[in-house]
Amino acid sequence: MKILAIETSCDETAMAVIEVQSKKRRTKNEEKIKVLSNTISSQVKLHAKYGGVVPNLAAREHVKNIGYVFRLALKEAGIWRHRISDGHPMLKIDLIAVTRGPGLGPALLVGITFAKTLAWKYNKPIVGINHLEGHIFSNFLKKIGRNSKFEIRNSKLFPILNLIVSGGHTELVLMKNHGKYELIGETLDDAVGEAFDKVARLLSLGHPGGPIVAQRATRFKVKSLKLKVVGKFPRPMEKSKDYNFSYSGLKTAVLYKIRDLKKEGIKITDNIKNEICYEFQKAAIDVLIQKTAKAAKEHEVKSILLSGGVSANALLRLSLSKVAKELSTNYFQPELEYTGDNAAMIALAGYFNYKKNPPSRKTSEDTDWKSVEMDANLGF
Ligand code: KG4
Ligand code: ZN
Repeated sequence: MKILAIETSCDETAMAVIEVQSKKRRTKNEEKIKVLSNTISSQVKLHAKYGGVVPNLAAREHVKNIGYVFRLALKEAGIWRHRISDGHPMLKIDLIAVTRGPGLGPALLVGITFAKTLAWKYNKPIVGINHLEGHIFSNFLKKIGRNSKFEIRNSKLFPILNLIVSGGHTELVLMKNHGKYELIGETLDDAVGEAFDKVARLLSLGHPGGPIVAQRATRFKVKSLKLKVVGKFPRPMEKSKDYNFSYSGLKTAVLYKIRDLKKEGIKITDNIKNEICYEFQKAAIDVLIQKTAKAAKEHEVKSILLSGGVSANALLRLSLSKVAKELSTNYFQPELEYTGDNAAMIALAGYFNYKKNPPSRKTSEDTDWKSVEMDANLGF
């Protein structure tokens, strides 16, 4: 079956088409997944001058771009244009999946309204998807045109511990079985991606800060301990007994460090900026690694799965893969092209939800398009 997905929860207008072929092997279903198109129109440059995403501006841009992104996604997947048959328009897809939360309300509504309109006009089933569940499923996607297996069917992988890290979320989610999610830890204030973005802003490095701070950190070379001026940043909640995180204190520590250095008459040179990025990144990632390792041990998980925008971070990928090796668990991380917000991951989560709980069709002319509702604070 072919699934069209729509994602507009933040500052990317994204649409994708994936194809899932299901085969029965002995007693089991085995699926082959192929991404046919994965179109993303990013508003990053537009929001950069405000230092963060402005919700109403994001919604306005989604409205402007969504028609174009739709045509492009269908063209690339080879299913444009829709045909008129017996006076009825046709769209050669079998299911529509759309992000219904969490995210920015005005931005989410654009994608949801577009998806509902398509479902109504072309009489297609529709499922509303949790954006974070989408990030989890990004782990099972391969490059456009390549086949991947839907490994989540393999019961030997469970329990799975998910570390979801993005601009809005820092969560540890335990999956004891297919589709069963339990939130066991989360940030009490800022998300880790948000902290990267704020540190970049403090150092006037641009937006979004994650990739820039990470790149700056690699440029810092520890030539001599004497030449280091920044020192270690705190690891917030490192010793707490729960699996929660806190990143606003770390950001403030960076702010104070810059202020103190200036007071001492030290100029914030490019090299000192690199050192701050290096020390900040180390502190931010250290806490993620420690809490994930602790949760993995205590819940005796068989797999660790990383996802969300911050999963593009090279230090995090390397450190977490080492933890998994030490604990002898399976380890999954998404391909780099699926770490950020995209619709292919929403399509795969859509397929999974559709199979689990097929939406009802009241009459042949009336799908349940009305049932999908926006929830900006949707959780697990
Ligand atoms: O999942 P995502 O694309 O959007 C949200 O749902 O929030 O995540 C975006 C976040 C931003 O905060 C961005 O700075 C961060 O992911 N990010 C990174 C890296 N690449 C993106 N953070 C650290 N290192 C990176 N390489
Ligand atoms: Zn995201």
